[in-house]
Amino acid sequence: MMLNAAVIGYGWMGRLHAGGYRQLSWRYPELGVDVRLAVAADTAEPNREAAKVAGFERVVSDYREVLADPSIDVVSIALPSFSHREVALAAAAAGKPFWIEKPMGLNAGQSRDIAEAAVSAGLVTGVGFNYRRQPAIARARQIVRSGELGRITNARVWMLADYASSPGVAYTWRFSKDAGPGVVSDLLSHGTDLTHFLVGRISELSAQTGLFIPERPLPLGEGAGAWSTEVSSEKKAVENEDYVSVLGRTDSEVLVTLEASRVAIGPRAEYIVEVYGTEGSLRWNFERPMELQLIHSGERGYSTQLCAPGDGEYGRFQPGAGMQLSFDDPKTVEAADFIRSVLSGQQLVGSAADAWQAAEVSDAIVRSASSRAWEAVPEVSGPVTYDA
Ligand SMILES: NC(=O)c1ccc[n+]([C@@H]2O[C@H](COP(=O)([O-])OP(=O)(O)OC[C@H]3O[C@@H](n4cnc5c(N)ncnc54)[C@H](O)[C@@H]3O)[C@@H](O)[C@H]2O)c1
Repeated sequence: MMLNAAVIGYGWMGRLHAGGYRQLSWRYPELGVDVRLAVAADTAEPNREAAKVAGFERVVSDYREVLADPSIDVVSIALPSFSHREVALAAAAAGKPFWIEKPMGLNAGQSRDIAEAAVSAGLVTGVGFNYRRQPAIARARQIVRSGELGRITNARVWMLADYASSPGVAYTWRFSKDAGPGVVSDLLSHGTDLTHFLVGRISELSAQTGLFIPERPLPLGEGAGAWSTEVSSEKKAVENEDYVSVLGRTDSEVLVTLEASRVAIGPRAEYIVEVYGTEGSLRWNFERPMELQLIHSGERGYSTQLCAPGDGEYGRFQPGAGMQLSFDDPKTVEAADFIRSVLSGQQLVGSAADAWQAAEVSDAIVRSASSRAWEAVPEVSGPVTYDA
């Protein structure tokens, strides 16, 4: 069966969505689907050219052309976050199932609009929480759920990155208030989803945030993406958060601490998850993604287990244990989850409602940082899948 896909926004994530679609026919042959890269929409000419070279049959600059095209079966939304709501609502109105990047909306209200529009239109969705598709995380979840660690008492998740640690990093859309609360929704939303996925929904929290690099130089060049290196001498004030730390608890009283920074000097992409129980604990570091550290009560140190077939979707990519997956491979898993939902008509793993629940946490963080008080996190009413 052939499905025609459109990718709206052909920057970093748009390219990974395209790569995910392209790999489905050989990584997931049982789906019996070949996803054709039918059209890419991007406002920047260099990115449209890149999409052509990558094999898209057609490129356009206006996303509305894509949504008006009856031959398009599925749509990826990989735009700067401030455009997600407009385009996702238009996709829902056009009856196109969509796979959308995180953070889905700029806040919980926008995220709710998107999730509810999809449900009202009877559409399944996919969401860009790729870290939960890491094989070691899948294994960690299995261990947590098996009871091997005893009663889960607490968890720590931190996402410390240096991508904006230099004051010379260009001011792109990520640093504007139009992009939402900075690192809170950008990086920490992944940490929030990992927390939900591994130990349950965060129900209340106390948070603080910081802005450490107050201005940045403007980028040069059309379609300058998030990693633009050419900058002008003109500077602009940064409008959202560089840093966040959170104390929280889940519905089942697991105590959690979360932290994220985009300006850490030292860690490069140190995304660490630790889950502690009465009988043991586990630890995963994205900088060494194929390793899971595990310890049981009474042992003197962690044992390190390398990923192997059977750990999540590892076996789709490598036949033997101890090999590496790329950053992009979990995006192929995400594509498969989305297309499986599309083919079955059932909302399977990874939904807009999951992103809405993460956005409720981001909103509570913003409220708490301002009120300096604990804030409750509302539970969403959509079809969440983090606990499935
Ligand atoms: N899942 C992840 O790990 C992950 C990583 C990075 C980014 N993201 C998310 O993915 C989304 C995109 O981020 P990115 O890093 O790919 O950004 P990017 O800047 O690299 O790409 C965005 C693209 O959208 C295009 N664009 C902007 N406005 C447009 C419009 N109106 N119509 C058509 N095209 C338009 C730009 O020209 C650019 O090519 C964001 O929501 C971001 O938070 C997710």
